[in-house]
Amino acid sequence: MTTHTETPISPEQQALEDELVATVVSSFDAADNPRLKHVMQSLTRHLHAFIRDVRLTEEEWSKAIEFLTAVGEITDDKRQEFVLLSDVLGASMQTIAVNNQAHKGATDATVFGPFFVDDAPEIPLGGDIAGGATGQPCWIEGTVTDTDGNPVADARIEVWECDEDGYYDVQYTDERIAGRAHLFTDDKGQYRFWGLTPVPYPIPHDGPVGKMLAAVGRSPVRAAHLHFMVTADDLRTLVTHIFVDGDPQIEIGDSVFGVKDSLIKQFDAQSPGTPTPDGRSLSDRSWARARFDIVLAPAGV
Ligand code: BEZ
Ligand code: FE
Repeated sequence: MTTHTETPISPEQQALEDELVATVVSSFDAADNPRLKHVMQSLTRHLHAFIRDVRLTEEEWSKAIEFLTAVGEITDDKRQEFVLLSDVLGASMQTIAVNNQAHKGATDATVFGPFFVDDAPEIPLGGDIAGGATGQPCWIEGTVTDTDGNPVADARIEVWECDEDGYYDVQYTDERIAGRAHLFTDDKGQYRFWGLTPVPYPIPHDGPVGKMLAAVGRSPVRAAHLHFMVTADDLRTLVTHIFVDGDPQIEIGDSVFGVKDSLIKQFDAQSPGTPTPDGRSLSDRSWARARFDIVLAPAGV
């Protein structure tokens, strides 16, 4: 196997490599679209810098092509391995950071993930998203406000999560709709619903991305979380999750780098028989409760 040497690169060799970068960069000069030109030229500079930095061997280049081919082969309308690759490289989170800039205490965004489904059922305030998904019942409540503290009435809140076995409904073959719903805030911007206490689960890791994680000794497991997407007129759409304070996976590391301190919430355990906020009878089982106050940035910031 060819390995790269630590031999210093001669000035002559450096000049040859520099010349190639300049030639490829200038090949995009005539692009009509200035944004496309900028992106392609920057990509070229960074890609060549990477190849030169690691002194990429031809064998490694072939392996990379084989890997990307496998990523493409496993991708279909249900499985998006390229997005998964972007997720585990932190590229999804970096793109989210660049496009959801911090603004006056607006709630942080995080990864969307592959398990959102359009048209999840509507539930009333205080309704249950479980739809048969098993797990510890969890009462979640909070408010939606703008960055000036004004309540946002009629905000649409989509929520989705896995069951206690770590699977989303769409990962089962029986067309069930469970662990997902949407609801709307009331006149005071308040919302509340029953969900399930989130549990850690692995991202799909039976494909090339999973093999890559195993090869580098990284866990495919995501810290326990509950997904939210919140939309309201004239405000920036928020895609985020809340995480469970004390979940050991937060320390171990979330496989897609989605955790932000501001999104870690206390899920307070309640013993069987503790009265519930809406009178639901849970005399024979424990439950939990959490609060998540959501602040939406103005649209366009
Ligand atoms: C998820 O949280 O649903 C998820 C996010 C990124 C990759 C895989 C799953
Ligand atoms: Fe998830």
